[in-house]
Amino acid sequence: MLLITHLAFVKMLLKLCISSVHGIFGSILKKVCLWVDKQVPSRTGVIESVKNERNHAERTAKDVTTPTSVNYHFTRKCNYKCGFCFHTAKTSFVLPIEEAKRGLHLLKEAGMEKINFSGGEPFLHERGDFLGEMVRYCKEELQLPSVSIVSNGSMIKERWFKKYGKYLDILAISCDSFDEDTNQVIGRAQGQKSHIDNLFRIREWCQDYKVAFKLNSVINTFNIDEDMTENITQLNPVRWKVFQCLLIDGENAGENSLREAERFVISEQQFQDFLNRHSSIKCLVPESNEKMRDSYLILDEYMRFLDCREGRKDPSKSILDIGVEEAIQFSGFDEKMFLKRGGKYMWSKADMNLEWISRVR
Ligand SMILES: C[S@@+](CC[C@H](N)C(=O)[O-])C[C@H]1O[C@@H](n2cnc3c(N)ncnc32)[C@H](O)[C@@H]1O
Ligand SMILES: *[C@@H]1O[C@H](CO)[C@@H](O)[C@H](O)[C@H]1NC(C)=O
Ligand SMILES: *[C@@H]1O[C@H](CO)[C@@H](O)[C@H](O)[C@H]1NC(C)=O
Ligand SMILES: *[C@@H]1O[C@H](CO)[C@@H](O)[C@H](O)[C@H]1NC(C)=O
Ligand code: SF4
Repeated sequence: MLLITHLAFVKMLLKLCISSVHGIFGSILKKVCLWVDKQVPSRTGVIESVKNERNHAERTAKDVTTPTSVNYHFTRKCNYKCGFCFHTAKTSFVLPIEEAKRGLHLLKEAGMEKINFSGGEPFLHERGDFLGEMVRYCKEELQLPSVSIVSNGSMIKERWFKKYGKYLDILAISCDSFDEDTNQVIGRAQGQKSHIDNLFRIREWCQDYKVAFKLNSVINTFNIDEDMTENITQLNPVRWKVFQCLLIDGENAGENSLREAERFVISEQQFQDFLNRHSSIKCLVPESNEKMRDSYLILDEYMRFLDCREGRKDPSKSILDIGVEEAIQFSGFDEKMFLKRGGKYMWSKADMNLEWISRVR
């Protein structure tokens, strides 16, 4: 109490100084006044101001963060209901294509080299033409070294490859199990349609249209005991990303969430056992919860960065409103974690030796 009155007095005095003293000392004094301002916040007092200072320092350090690699979840709509999903259909919003392109251009100017289109199901909106146009724009006009898509794979048609395949570097398909029943339990099934037959068809198209084929699997309580070695070997992806099922508050856990994924969660040890069982697969890239939380720079359907550090997704303002640099300061993206994850690795077709084209049969 005493301290606050004292500081308030000093502040008043300095403000008086500024209004009467001009010339070179003015600006210096103004800085002192601003500093004093921060020392006299409302009730929480000094502790709060120390915290402010630290946050400020952290942000200043983050000013240098470049959005080298961006995951753009441009739609939340999906044709599936995977029980563990951490990016759920909370809104049906999709930006107009011209606005999305403006945002992509801003990101390119801020240093983006790699874009990953995700969702929701990215092939759903305008039957994939919206996605296709963004892919073309990123490759042809923005000349990004790497353009990729993460999809469940159920909506992809050969027509899409014919039209847009040449602009796409990598297609990552999510497949969590090679057992149809397990997929059914997880929620990755539409009636009797076989997800797995579809997977092999997409693999062929990737080969035909020279798109690198990647696989993503989320390891959870229902597929933890599976041995996928033979199936993965047969599909021969350039990379097999193996995720430990992650909980995000407000998405698949806690209040206001559309899913309750707790029953899918596995321990570190279980995850490690799964990895050990598949150690013969050279293209396997593990993504533990720890590694995932901070290493993805996520852009949502409004082009807001999402901060997943606290196990929640707190959005920034949209880059369309405040620009990339401002928005990124609040995104919680950890550049070191990204590098640890091997984030900078074979991004474009040009970097790849074309061995992946031939599948082991
Ligand atoms: C949210 S999906 C969107 C793209 C598309 N619908 C799909 O499923 O591939 C993006 C990736 O996140 C993975 N994923 C979803 N929920 C997850 C969770 N709780 N933990 C880890 N990965 C998850 C999906 O399997 C998929 O590979
Ligand atoms: C793109 O991001 C998603 C997460 O949003 C991830 O599952 C996927 O592996 C990434 N794909 C590529 C090709 O980097
Ligand atoms: C896509 O998701 C559906 C339902 O969530 C699932 O049945 C299907 O297996 C998934 N696709 C792949 C290739 O895993
Ligand atoms: C996966 O591999 C197993 C052998 O380990 C095989 O029995 C099964 O048919 C394969 N599944 C698919 C869908 O290829
Ligand atoms: S993981 Fe993908 S396919 Fe499954 S519900 Fe989420 S967005 Fe849809």
